Amino acid sequence: MKKTVLVTGGTGYIGSHTVVALQEKGYDVVIVDNLANSDKEVIYNIEKTTGVLPKFEKLDLVDEQACRTLFEKYSFDAVIHFAAYKYVNESVREPLMYYKNNFHSMLNVLSEMKKHKISNLVFSSSCTVYGTPEELPVTEQSPVQKAMSPYGNTKQVIEEILEDCCLADKDLNVISLRYFNPIGAHPSIQIGEIAKGIPQNLLPYLTQTVIGKRDYLSVYGGDYDTPDGTCIRDYIHVVDLAEAHVSAIERLVIKEMENNYEVYNVGTGTGYSVLDIVHTFEKVNEVKVNHKIVERRSGDIAQIWADTSLVNKTLKWKAKYALSDMLQSAWEWEKVMNEKHKK
Ligand code: NAD
Ligand code: WQD
Repeated sequence: MKKTVLVTGGTGYIGSHTVVALQEKGYDVVIVDNLANSDKEVIYNIEKTTGVLPKFEKLDLVDEQACRTLFEKYSFDAVIHFAAYKYVNESVREPLMYYKNNFHSMLNVLSEMKKHKISNLVFSSSCTVYGTPEELPVTEQSPVQKAMSPYGNTKQVIEEILEDCCLADKDLNVISLRYFNPIGAHPSIQIGEIAKGIPQNLLPYLTQTVIGKRDYLSVYGGDYDTPDGTCIRDYIHVVDLAEAHVSAIERLVIKEMENNYEVYNVGTGTGYSVLDIVHTFEKVNEVKVNHKIVERRSGDIAQIWADTSLVNKTLKWKAKYALSDMLQSAWEWEKVMNEKHKK
């Protein structure tokens, strides 16, 4: 019988790609999203990609009663919890908004899972938990450092909450995935990252510059202790990241876990600098990226990339896409969005 997965935040960037990957593997999916940072149109774009319209419930997971009704309506085999606010700067300005949304939604989901004896959960964590790493690449054993923002703190504290819940309840199985920097769009170019307002992240800002919406890309800092002086990150194709969730779900549903709480880095294992991104983007897309090296952005770390040996071995997952694929798809997606907005 088909397994049903609840995907919270499933109309969002990573969630929508994961819904596609789950449907392609034969899972039934129910998306829950309050559309705070996404559009309902995404479910029809998922249908165009896979031929299957996912079930969709528009609701706020902070609302306890709405959450209760959701879990009474469906029978889930597993939950992937993406729903959260995700902007570092905004979280510094609005910590309460972040704590309320990210904690309450997680706690409500956990309570309902317990009540309905749903034992499988995948949680969206982040490489932000490593702060400024002392050694590279970072492994899952690298120390978690004091969070540099309320957003980062929500990821750290939720990881702790999940570990506590797993200690208390041996029937609960949880996998936290620490994502590195997801970029790119699905090859169908039906779904991708929808950046609302002025983008904070590198790729949407870069593509909006090339399309002409922004004058130039500010490269934050050219004097870091890295080979070209700009920051290094582990960029991962969002489709690869989505596949990692399917691997995590499969490990959970076939009860392969040795401990009931596991954490994995999800990256490619390779770091690229901001200028690597600019130059590769120019080369693969045959365009010019107007850019200027400016002051460092506060809170940025010089460099981070993942040791992926654990995820490769245990989840039997490995990133397949190259940087050129990520940057080509990001550009194709920007062009499609630009055409849509003209209409
Ligand atoms: P996103 O904003 O595109 O998707 C999150 C979705 O959750 C949105 O559609 C939003 O409307 C929804 N949502 C938020 N609060 C909700 C609530 N209370 N009830 C119902 N729905 C709610 O973000 P994303 O980039 O797809 O990120 C998904 C998850 O991965 C988040 O938890 C984020 O913190 C985490 N993450 C993202 C990145 C990244 O760079 N994008 C990196 C590491 C971790
Ligand atoms: C990447 C690099 C910037 C914009 C953030 C969160 C992290 C995770 C992923 C959720 C950095 C540089 C950027 C620009 C630039 N999210 N940059 N000009 O900061 O690595 O990580 O998103 O969990 O928690 O902190 O991603 O895309 O903002 O930046 O030069 O206009 O690009 O300095 O080196 P970051 P990013």
